[in-house]
Amino acid sequence: LPDPEVVALTGADVAARLPRPGAESDKYRRGVVGVVAGSDRFTGAAVLTVGGAVRAGAGLVRFASAAEPVAQVRARWPEAVTKVITPEEGVGDVGRVQAWVLGPGMGTGDEAHALARSVLASDVPVLVDADGLTVVSRDRTLLRRDAPTLITPHTGELGRLLGVAPADIETRRLHYAEHAARELGVTVLLKGSTTLVAEEGRPVRVNVTGTPWLATGGTGDVLAGIAGAFLAGGLSCYDAASCAAYLHGLAGRLAAGDPRGGEAPIAALDVALEIPAAVRA
Ligand code: APR
Ligand code: MG
Repeated sequence: LPDPEVVALTGADVAARLPRPGAESDKYRRGVVGVVAGSDRFTGAAVLTVGGAVRAGAGLVRFASAAEPVAQVRARWPEAVTKVITPEEGVGDVGRVQAWVLGPGMGTGDEAHALARSVLASDVPVLVDADGLTVVSRDRTLLRRDAPTLITPHTGELGRLLGVAPADIETRRLHYAEHAARELGVTVLLKGSTTLVAEEGRPVRVNVTGTPWLATGGTGDVLAGIAGAFLAGGLSCYDAASCAAYLHGLAGRLAAGDPRGGEAPIAALDVALEIPAAVRA
């Protein structure tokens, strides 16, 4: 097979697509993103995912999870509307949501499966990341849905989804990103030192705005929140993934950089806090 068509993402591409509020905007029109993340064992992923969505300019973030992550999110992001839910009742009627982010820190057991099923049953776009991808790799029927789906795996997560060794993914990232998009009928954002966005029938977009300082726990969760905010803002999976990858990389650079020169370590939350500066830039 010939290599797929590839294009590099530019700042102009992103600036032209980024959702911006108009004079008539209200929070519902700007987009309500629902986040199902975290568990009583992993609360940090929930805080970071919600942070990414809040700082990327969601009109409203609705957060639904177990009691402990809800308490943590309420403490860190008073902007979010939260609800404690159980796996049995699922996300139910949390209120109007234009897109969902599913997965970071949610766990991978039967309860996580039940929650994933309830979110993926919705008729709006869903982004699946992290533990959500592990759940889906055990039951790919969850991805059979009418509304668009965006998956945001790192190499290991994509390997698990496709039943391919991570080393093989690494040597043929372009091929496997495209293959997964076609095979699973989803948009794929494949993370790494360069990030690829693949969708059937579209050129693969490549993003290189990041910095190796982003290789620290939790930055992926922030990325999921950013992309979720853009999905809720009305961007397609392809554009939401592209804009999120670009701005996340740039926010990482801004967080690591110093006007006096050089770069320094960053924490995942720093990346969320620099998103507005990345948008401005
Ligand atoms: N250069 C540029 N960007 C990088 C680099 C690099 N060398 N390494 C990583 N990144 C970026 C990726 O592109 C991605 O946006 O950092 C982010 C890392 O995201 P994830 O791999 O999803 O990592 P994260 O979820 O934040 O934390 C690791 O995932 O596998 C689980 O259990 C594991 O808790 C751990 C968690
Ligand atoms: Mg991750």
